[in-house]
Amino acid sequence: MSDKIFTVAIDGPAAAGKGTIARAIAQGFGMAHLDTGLLYRAVGRRVLDGTPAIIAASTLRQRDLARSDLRTPEVAAAASEVAADPDVREALVAFQRDFARRPGGAVLDGRDIGTVICPEADVKFFVTADDATRARRRFLELQASGHTITEAEVLENIRIRDTRDAARDAAPMVAAEDAMAFDTSDLSIEEAVDQARKLVADALNGG
Ligand code: C5P
Repeated sequence: MSDKIFTVAIDGPAAAGKGTIARAIAQGFGMAHLDTGLLYRAVGRRVLDGTPAIIAASTLRQRDLARSDLRTPEVAAAASEVAADPDVREALVAFQRDFARRPGGAVLDGRDIGTVICPEADVKFFVTADDATRARRRFLELQASGHTITEAEVLENIRIRDTRDAARDAAPMVAAEDAMAFDTSDLSIEEAVDQARKLVADALNGG
């Protein structure tokens, strides 16, 4: 990728496949990857531990992001709650924008990357999948990491989170006008990754 500045923005609801696609693109093109949901999860985790949200967001450290307990349903719900606070979001903007402009290219996945963080991104995807497919995927992930939760509970959690993320005033989850819509419901991981890679390759080649 040389030292080119090239940003790929991947947004969409929970468990649609954003992270898988983002990691594969980053790996395939030698770009850096930032899972921005992890920032909000780390803030949510600190709030659950008793730190006020704005302090948690403005003093976020690398070790907060490295915690092994950020991928729980409880932390996901707390993340979605703190993410509705405009001051929390503002505290995280500079880090994300700096990351996006790293020489060598960057892939960021989240909810507001193509609309608010990097409206000038070179490629934008809005990744979706139907609710049942997303719940199934997240349920299997959580089950594999030892969580006791039912698929119906996962579906309910995802719906609550998506509704809150889409309805908030501050940087709501919405597809950018120039984002490519990408429905992964009927695609395997390999197919989704393959299609996304081709679209990024076209953009890199000036198409
Ligand atoms: O992507 P993930 O499910 O880990 O994100 C957790 C929560 O963080 C989301 O439900 C959303 O509320 C928030 N988030 C956000 N903006 C982003 C990334 C995540 O508001 N760019």
